[in-house]
Amino acid sequence: MREKSSVERSQLPERQISSNLTVLKLFLPYLSPYKGQITLGLISLLLATLSTLGIGLVFTSLIDHAFSQESLTALNQSILLMIGCVAIMAVASFGRTYFVSWLGERVVADLRQRFFSHLLRLEVGFFEMTRPGELISRLTTDTTLIQIVIGNSAALALRNLLLFIGGASMMLAMSVKLTLISVLIVPLILIPLVIFGKRVKVGSRHAQDSVGDLSGFLEEALSSIRSCFAFNRESVEQAVFKKLVDTTFACATQHLLMRSWLTFSVMMLVFLGVSGLLWLGGQDVVLGTLSAGQLASFLFYALMVAGAAASFSEIYADLQRAAGASERIFEILSIQPKPQPSSKLRSLPREARGTLALHNINFAYPNNPQRPILHNFTLSVAPGEKVALVGPSGSGKSTVLSLLLRFFEPQSGAIYVDGVDVKEAPLSQVRERFGIVPQEPMIFSGSLYENILYARPSASETEIWNAIEGAHLLDVVKALSQGIHTQLGTRGVRLSGGQRQRVAIARVILRNAPILLLDEATSALDAESEAAIQESLKRLMVTKTTLVVAHRLATVLKSDRIVVLNKGYVEAVGTHAELITEDGLYRRLATLQFTDSLNLSERQKENRALWA
Ligand SMILES: Nc1ncnc2c1ncn2[C@@H]1O[C@H](COP(=O)(O)OP(=O)(O)OP(=O)(O)O)[C@@H](O)[C@H]1O
Ligand SMILES: [Mg+2]
Repeated sequence: MREKSSVERSQLPERQISSNLTVLKLFLPYLSPYKGQITLGLISLLLATLSTLGIGLVFTSLIDHAFSQESLTALNQSILLMIGCVAIMAVASFGRTYFVSWLGERVVADLRQRFFSHLLRLEVGFFEMTRPGELISRLTTDTTLIQIVIGNSAALALRNLLLFIGGASMMLAMSVKLTLISVLIVPLILIPLVIFGKRVKVGSRHAQDSVGDLSGFLEEALSSIRSCFAFNRESVEQAVFKKLVDTTFACATQHLLMRSWLTFSVMMLVFLGVSGLLWLGGQDVVLGTLSAGQLASFLFYALMVAGAAASFSEIYADLQRAAGASERIFEILSIQPKPQPSSKLRSLPREARGTLALHNINFAYPNNPQRPILHNFTLSVAPGEKVALVGPSGSGKSTVLSLLLRFFEPQSGAIYVDGVDVKEAPLSQVRERFGIVPQEPMIFSGSLYENILYARPSASETEIWNAIEGAHLLDVVKALSQGIHTQLGTRGVRLSGGQRQRVAIARVILRNAPILLLDEATSALDAESEAAIQESLKRLMVTKTTLVVAHRLATVLKSDRIVVLNKGYVEAVGTHAELITEDGLYRRLATLQFTDSLNLSERQKENRALWA
C-alpha cells in the first residue's frame, strides 16, 4: 500500500542521520561566484558588530562621567556618541540583511536549477522508483531550509561569534575576576547544547521525511482523483491521509519539543549565571574596587555574550537542519546520470537513412532485475521498411520501443541506428531520429496548439495545420470553444481518449523524424477515423522506416514483415501470408480476429451471448 513510504527508497542511498556539518562545505562552489556580495555582507557585519560593542562603552561614560560628576557636557557627548553608534549599526544592519539574504536567495536559485537539470539527465528507471512529490519536496522545502541558513543563520553565527569575542574582550578589560567566573558558566551551556542538538537533527529529518510522504501521497491521490471517485475510495484515501498527517504532526511536535527544551535549558542557565554575576559584581562596587559604570558595561557585555552563546544553540540546530536538507539534495545530485555518455562519442551520419538493428538484446527492468522481459531479441529493419510487432499483452512490444529510445539500457546486446551503436552516439542525436506515438499519449495542461508544437517548437504555422489535418483533428479544433488555443486542462482532461491519441499523431507528423514508432497509435479510434488516419500515416510512412505495434491485426496486414513476440521471445517472423500458413501463435490470433461471426464455435457463441 502506498502509505508505506513516499519513495521506494531502495533507489536512493540509505539516508544517514548524522550531526555531520561538513556536508555544508559542498555549498562553497555555489558561493564562490558571488565574492562581491560576500565582501559587502562581511563589511556590513563587521561594522554592525563594532557599533554594537561601542554602545557598551557609552554606558561607562554615561554613568561614571555624566551622572557621577553631574556634567552636562559629558552627557551631551555620551548621547552624541550613542546616536553615532546607533546610526552606523542601523546602516550596517541594512547592508547585512540585504546582501546576506540576497546571497541565500541566489544560491538556492542556482541550486534549484542545478537540481532540475540533473533530474533531466537521470534514467527513466529512477523516476519509476521515486515519487514526484518526494522530489518536489526536496526541491522546495529542503532548498528553503538551506536558503534560511545561507541567507540568515550563517551571518547570524558570524555576527554572534564577533559579538562573543568582542564582548568577552571588553569583559576582560572591565574585570578579570568576573570574567573568569563567567568562563566557569560556559560548560554548563555547552552540555544541553550537545545533548539536545543531536536529537533536534534527528527529529528534523524525520519531520522532513514525513512531509515528503505527505506530498507524495497527495500528488498521486489528486492525479488519480477519477479512479478514487469511481471506486468510492474517498473514505479509504481520507483515512490514509489522516494517518500521514498525524505522523507529520507527531514528528513535528517531537521535533518542536526537543527544540524548546534546547532553548529552555540554555536560557535558564545563562540568566542564572548573569544573576550570579550581578550579585558578585555588586559586592565589588559596594567595596569600591569596581565603578558602577564599569559594572553596568560589564553586564551589558555579559548579556551580549550570553545572548550570542544562547543563539549558538539555535543556529547550531538550524545548521543541523540545513545539513539534513543538504544531504537529501546532494543525495540526488550524486546519482550518476544515465545513460552515461560514452568516452568515444560517434556522431550518427548526417543524412539519416533510417536503418535499425537490435542484436541479441536481453533485458530486465531495473526495478525487477530477476525477471527477464526480452530474450535474445534480434531484429534488423532496412530503410523504409514497415515492420509490425504483434503478440499478447505483456509480451514486451512497448519495451522494445523504450529500449530504442534509450529509456533503459539492455543488460546485453546492442542497438544500432544508421549503423552506429547507440551507446556510442550522443543521446539527443539518437532520440532525434525517432518519432513516437506512445501507447498512452501524454497531454500537458497548455493549449492544443502548445501541445502539438511540443514535438517541434520551430515548426511553422502551415506545418502545424498540416499536422492537424493529417491527424484528423480539424473537426475537434472547430468544436473547441477557443479553437486551437483552447486550454486542455491538467493532463488533457478536456479531450477524449481518441482525441488525445490524435494529438499524439499530429505531434509525430510535425516531428517528421526518419524512424516512426507507432505503439497502438490508432487503438482508441472508431473504424472511420482509424481508416482516415491510417491513410495519412501511410503517406507519412512512405519515406520512413516504421515499427508498428498493434493488437488489431487488420492494421498490420500489409506490413513488409510481422514479428511475433511471445513472452519476450521472437516466435516467428514473416509476412501475413507466410505466418498464416504456419501453425503458431500468429495463426491463432488471426483466426480469432478474422473469423466471421457466423463461423464462431459454440463456446464463442456462448460468450458473445452474454453481451446480447
Ligand atoms: N516500467 C516497468 N517496470 C517493470 N516492469 C515493466 C515495466 N514496464 C513493463 N513491464 C513489464 O514488462 C512486460 C512487458 O511489458 P510491455 O509494456 O513491453 O508489454 P506489451 O507487449 O507492450 O503489452 P501491451 O500489449 O499490453 O501493451 C510486462 O510483463 C510488464 O509487466
Ligand atoms: Mg504495450
